[in-house]
Amino acid sequence: FLRMTEVDLAGKRVLIRADLNVPTDDAGRITDETRIVASLAAMRLALDAGAAVMVTSHFGRPKEGALQPGDTLAPVAERLAEALGRPVPLVRNWLADGWSVKPGQIVLLENCRGNVGEKADDPALAESIAALCDVYVNDAFGAAHRAEASICGVARYAPLACAGPLLAAELDALGQAFEAPRRPLVAIVGGSKVSTKLSILRSLAARVDRLIVGGGIANTFLLAAGKPIGKSLAEPDLLDEARAIMAMMAARGASVPLPEDVVVAGEFSANAEASLRPVDAVGADDMIFDVGPRSACEIAGILQGAATIVWNGPLGVFEFPQFAAGTAALARAIADSPAFSVAGGGDTLAAIGQFGVGERIDYISTGGGAFLEFLEGKPLPAVAALAAAATRHHPRKE
Ligand code: 3PG
Repeated sequence: FLRMTEVDLAGKRVLIRADLNVPTDDAGRITDETRIVASLAAMRLALDAGAAVMVTSHFGRPKEGALQPGDTLAPVAERLAEALGRPVPLVRNWLADGWSVKPGQIVLLENCRGNVGEKADDPALAESIAALCDVYVNDAFGAAHRAEASICGVARYAPLACAGPLLAAELDALGQAFEAPRRPLVAIVGGSKVSTKLSILRSLAARVDRLIVGGGIANTFLLAAGKPIGKSLAEPDLLDEARAIMAMMAARGASVPLPEDVVVAGEFSANAEASLRPVDAVGADDMIFDVGPRSACEIAGILQGAATIVWNGPLGVFEFPQFAAGTAALARAIADSPAFSVAGGGDTLAAIGQFGVGERIDYISTGGGAFLEFLEGKPLPAVAALAAAATRHHPRKE
């Protein structure tokens, strides 16, 4: 696909599809602006080149044709204006006439999921959005797994379609981790359920050298390996799946290292009393909430010897201090490892923030669902659309 940095933007009408779908509190205030900050580079690139800049994004999951007051990108427009140090007017009915943007100016086009036909990638809608621009820039990695009009259809109809710097950086980092990675390649997949991450586990089992499982996922693997897990959260229906994944790894000379010691409690609560147990000595009433220090140390050793690390999901209930040590040790071990490291996913970002290791992880993805679909090895519709567009036109900067 074509990159934004390869395209002549001077004087052009440039439409940037960003993912500005940031979390807000009840009062509509933005609680995490990571995606806004990560999206500024594309806007600055276009403004510095003297383009007439239009930015759009989805925000939440509104009903098409019926945007409610809570669906507006207005708080985002305000934050963008502050960050860019210039006005960023919000254009509400942007598929109708009555507004314009001049070279050197930027506008934010209201929640694109308000347009009827957005979700279904309606060709007529895509064509009318594409008609607004000379250059379409997809910079929305977080929405790259959605085959929607502003993601896919517009790339088909726009005179020129390219990837913005954030989308390109995400794909470069994930590509470095998965396409011809430096080995050993170690993946850590934590979280509560095997069922929600089954296709990721299967896909990684075919590619990685070590697959470290954590949280409720590890409990199901422990049970599959014949260990007692007491009353821990697990999915007995998926024991055969867990065994198949371990067998698949073993057949490739790879492995799924399981914890040797665990931290247990009798109940799930913030004041539950934690006890350490060897993994063979988990009692009938115990619930496993973290890995123990020996396991954490073994994981740290594996990560020290890794060349590439991909991390999604915690090892335990890190929100409660007595069950946080395993995930804290993991976060520090990834940060300390000389490996190229990539991390993503909501809980993982929270853990990275809590343990203060963000600066020392090589790439932190802004994608939630998109990051997970990439791990599954699924082609991302946004990338396919840009690749198809690139085969149609090659006008690059001289
Ligand atoms: C996200 O928050 O993961 C992206 O913005 C995609 O949002 P969606 O799941 O509503 O499509």
